[in-house]
Amino acid sequence: MNAAVRAVVRQSIGSGIQVVAIYEGFKGLLEKNVKEFKMRDVSNIINTGGTILYSARCDYFRTPEGVAEGYKCARELELDAIIGIGGDGTLRGLHDLSQHGLAVVGIPGTIDNDMTATEYTIGYDTAMNTAVDMVDRLRDTCESHFRCNVVEVMGRRAGYIALHVGLATGAAQIVTNEVNFDEEWMFSEIIRGKENKKRHYIIMVAEGVEGYSEGIVQKIQERTGIETRLTRLGHVVRGGSPTLRDRVVASRMGIEAVDLLSRGEENKLMVKKGLDLSSVDIDYALTLDRMYKGSLTEGDHGRFSREQIVKMRQTCEKKREKFAALYRQTLDISQ
Ligand code: F6P
Repeated sequence: MNAAVRAVVRQSIGSGIQVVAIYEGFKGLLEKNVKEFKMRDVSNIINTGGTILYSARCDYFRTPEGVAEGYKCARELELDAIIGIGGDGTLRGLHDLSQHGLAVVGIPGTIDNDMTATEYTIGYDTAMNTAVDMVDRLRDTCESHFRCNVVEVMGRRAGYIALHVGLATGAAQIVTNEVNFDEEWMFSEIIRGKENKKRHYIIMVAEGVEGYSEGIVQKIQERTGIETRLTRLGHVVRGGSPTLRDRVVASRMGIEAVDLLSRGEENKLMVKKGLDLSSVDIDYALTLDRMYKGSLTEGDHGRFSREQIVKMRQTCEKKREKFAALYRQTLDISQ
C-alpha cells in the first residue's frame, strides 16, 4: 500500500495537484486527521510493509449519518477528490461518499484477492510469498519426521491464497470453499503416497472453510497413521517488505488513479486484467462482487442493463471455472 501512496502523492504533485494524506481511513476523515504531503513525505517507503497512513475500522462510517458527516468533513477540508486503498469495506465507503457528490477512485488492496472486478489486489503477492517461505520451512520438518502438516492460510471467504500457495509448495491437498472437497479421496491419496514412500504431506486449508482445520488433524492421524500437526499462518503473512509485483502494480495503480481524476473520471475502481490496468464503475464492481458471492439484492438488477448483467454473469462464471481448472491441475500433480 505504501507504494501506492507514494505514487499517488508524487503523480499528484507532478501534475500540480495539492495532496493531503488522511490518516486512519474513514475514521481519520471524520476526525480530520490529515496532513499535507510533499515529495519527501513519501521517501523511503516503497520497501515497507503496512501503511504509513495507518488503518482503522470505522463502524460509524457504515451508517448514512457517518457518511454524511464524512462528506461534510471532506468539504470543510476543501478536498476535491479522495483516492482510497483497501478491500470491499473501503470501496463501499468510497461509493457512499460519491453518492453525496464527492469524486472518488478506489485502489484494490487486500491480501485476499477477493474483489471480483480485478484479477489482482495489492498485498496478495507479498502475502503468498511469505506463506510459501513458511510452508517450505514446515515441509522440512514433515520430510525429516515423516509427518503431515495441515496449514491454514488467511483469505477471508476466498481460497486464492490457499490454492496458489498450495500449488507453489506442492501441497498434497487443498481445501477451499470454491471447490467441493472429497475427504475420503484425500485419505486414500495420503495412503497411496505413503505406499510410494512419500514422507511429507502438506494439507492447505483456506480459513474460510470454518472450523475445518482442527477436526481434520485428528482424522488424518486416525485414518492414515501419519503423525499430523496444525499450523495457522495467520497475520504473519500480512506484513513485511512487499514483493516486486506488489510494488509495481501498486505504483502503476497509484499513477493511473491520479490520471483518471485529472481526466475528470470519477467513482472508479482501478482493476488489473492480464498485464493491463483499466477501471470500472465502483457501483459495477460492488454489484459484481455481490453476484459472485451470491448476495445480490432485488435492487441490484434494476440499476444495470441486461447486457451488463449478462457480462457480470460471464465474469463470475469464468472466474469460477478458472479457479476449478487450476485446482484440478494442482491436485493432478500432487502425488
Ligand atoms: O482481509 C484481510 C484479512 O487478513 C483476512 O484474510 C482475514 O480473514 C482478516 O483480514 C483478519 O482480520 P483481522 O485483522 O481483523 O483479524
